[in-house]
Amino acid sequence: MRLHRCILLVSAVCLWNLAATAQAPAPTTLKDAFRGGFVIGAAINIAQITGRDARGDAILISQFNSISPENVMKWEVIHPRPDVYDFTMADKYVELGLKNHMFIVGHNLCWHAQTPDWVFKDEKGNPISREALIERLHDHIKTVVGHYKGKIDSWDVVNEALNEDGTLRQSPWLKIIGDDFLIKAFQFAHEADPNVQLNYNDYNLETPAKRKGAIALVKKLQAAGVPIAVVGNQAHLQIDGPSIADEEATVTELAASGVKVAITELDIDVLPSAWGKTADVSLNIQANPALNPYPKGLPDDVQQRLAKRYADLFAVYWKHRDVVNRVTLWGVTDSESWLNNWPVRGRTSYPLLFDRDGKPKPAFEAVLKTAAN
Ligand code: G3I
Repeated sequence: MRLHRCILLVSAVCLWNLAATAQAPAPTTLKDAFRGGFVIGAAINIAQITGRDARGDAILISQFNSISPENVMKWEVIHPRPDVYDFTMADKYVELGLKNHMFIVGHNLCWHAQTPDWVFKDEKGNPISREALIERLHDHIKTVVGHYKGKIDSWDVVNEALNEDGTLRQSPWLKIIGDDFLIKAFQFAHEADPNVQLNYNDYNLETPAKRKGAIALVKKLQAAGVPIAVVGNQAHLQIDGPSIADEEATVTELAASGVKVAITELDIDVLPSAWGKTADVSLNIQANPALNPYPKGLPDDVQQRLAKRYADLFAVYWKHRDVVNRVTLWGVTDSESWLNNWPVRGRTSYPLLFDRDGKPKPAFEAVLKTAAN
């Protein structure tokens, strides 16, 4: 009798558990879907920061728990002249993140692009000395990181220092300071905020040679005792490549060097890209209708391919959530994506999870489903 009662009780508990599992509502937001794995972010610009894009803000706040500044923290904006720091827009960006309890990313401190020419020149317009440029970099990082100490969670310290073959890019930073500019930049950032997470950020790390270069760079920083915590793989991807296997190898090989991996600028280009796989901002291609095949809307078959590609990618990121600490999309909706104007101006691009009307795309549903499964 007691045995029967026991069996009945156990069965009832099992049934109740099953029912509870079946009834648990599936998450309807990205941030809930991936909670416990990684934060999910979006890059924002002045329109979202100032509230001018109310629709974008509503999506941002309901769906995302991390933000990245698409442009407002870059050197040319935040430090336009030698004696002028302008934190106006960057402060509003940080306030938005703090108000909404978001993981706030700083982007970026040392890059060859969107850095004014004066940085690399003296008062007479001649190339600056190594010592003077190190001092300038120190002043910039100390001032900017210091200004946001305790508020920004993660800084992209050095951006895009590598060539496609894994060697160091011949940027003014490298040419004038030498290859220790990376070590110095990380040291200055650490001094200014010892608790902030420090990242190296680059694109095309799916390319084996470039990835090898990134790993060598991490090892060099580690050997110098520099606290590099994360490598950001930007993941400006195409609809047909790189392969999911390459994406997975990128995550696991970078993580094996002793850092976390962040996917920092995810988007998927569905438009023709005869210029190959790159996110080099200096590329500029003449407009031509053949390069803008979907001005009136994305055909359903492409929409479905995009959804599957996004789902496959998120499956990899979720599988490796022990080392992936953030996935950030480079924009909120398709209408503001940089890919509408790069490398060809005025195209109609479809790289994100929300369409031009702010509606979730099939890719959004596919990504949520990935998390549920
Ligand atoms: O600020 C000027 C404005 O005064 C002018 O009226 C307008 C006219 O075109 O241009 C504005 O500047 C634009 C700037 O974004 C701010 O909106 C530039 O033309 C435009 O080229 C610039 O593009 C940014 C690009 O970086 C430049 O390097 C993109 O928005 C931004 O998405 C992109 O972000 C980079 C990451 O930082 C690093 N990884 C690659 C990624 C994509 O290129």
